[in-house]
Amino acid sequence: MTAILLDGRALAARIEGSLRNEVDTFTTMFRRPPRLVVVLAGDLAASGSYVKSKAAAAARVGIDSEVIRVPATSTTEELVALVAAIAREEHGVADGILVQLPLPEHVDTVAVLDAVPPDRDVDGFHPENAGLLSQGRPRFVPCTAAGVQRMLIDAGIETAGRHAVIVGRSDIVGKPLALLLASRGTGGDATVTICHSRSANLAAITRQADILVAAVGRPRLVTADMVKPGAAVIDVGINRITGPDGSGKLVGDVDFEAVREVAGSISPVPGGVGPLTVAMLLANTLLAAELRAGRR
Ligand code: GUN
Repeated sequence: MTAILLDGRALAARIEGSLRNEVDTFTTMFRRPPRLVVVLAGDLAASGSYVKSKAAAAARVGIDSEVIRVPATSTTEELVALVAAIAREEHGVADGILVQLPLPEHVDTVAVLDAVPPDRDVDGFHPENAGLLSQGRPRFVPCTAAGVQRMLIDAGIETAGRHAVIVGRSDIVGKPLALLLASRGTGGDATVTICHSRSANLAAITRQADILVAAVGRPRLVTADMVKPGAAVIDVGINRITGPDGSGKLVGDVDFEAVREVAGSISPVPGGVGPLTVAMLLANTLLAAELRAGRR
């Protein structure tokens, strides 16, 4: 059996289509578009390329965006001050504020992220938004976790009563996704297991998964023998590797070619979760603008 391909690009395009209409309505009603301000510190190629695709997607749906680039030598204090200035709208309207990660190593990332006011926190990383999600009253849900849940719902993959195994315990993906899949309602009600680098006998656990999510950032961590036949496999990894011919290549955390022969459905890299992460960011930015305008 060859797995059904979970096409994130096609789903993201459909989501963008409906967002475009909602953004139009907002823009007509408030005589300005929703606006996103992104902070990019340093010159990591991958971060630059993510930020570019976020800005391009925003433009496609009519959301205004600005990327503020600062040097890799910026200090924690400078970045905190910059985020505070953005929040005071010294860089124009800022419905949504996003600090692209990773920040340079010497920077206190938590201090910078905590400077983002929770009502503009379109990444959903602020402790207030994390707390709301954990209490089952989500406001801004981290974009990748929201994208994975959306992908499962859209593909008609039942989560209620099924065993979802998430490999990866990050604050950005693993933890919020576990909360979403275990929450009540559509796309939830799953029995959730979180695995990580200290989990004993990882393969024995992943083989129990009806839904297996890999979010660790290790190329080909999930091999075919770790997958239950027919399982839905969602690959959140984005790893840049050098191919045998010396050229750069993007691969996920899943050994795609082998696993697709075992799984029931599988998300590719690229073209899987990545585009949905961006679409969820646009949805969060519109939500931030509507919350501020008192429309929600
Ligand atoms: N870097 C990798 N993923 C993300 C994300 O979801 N948000 C931000 N801000 N930076 C990231």
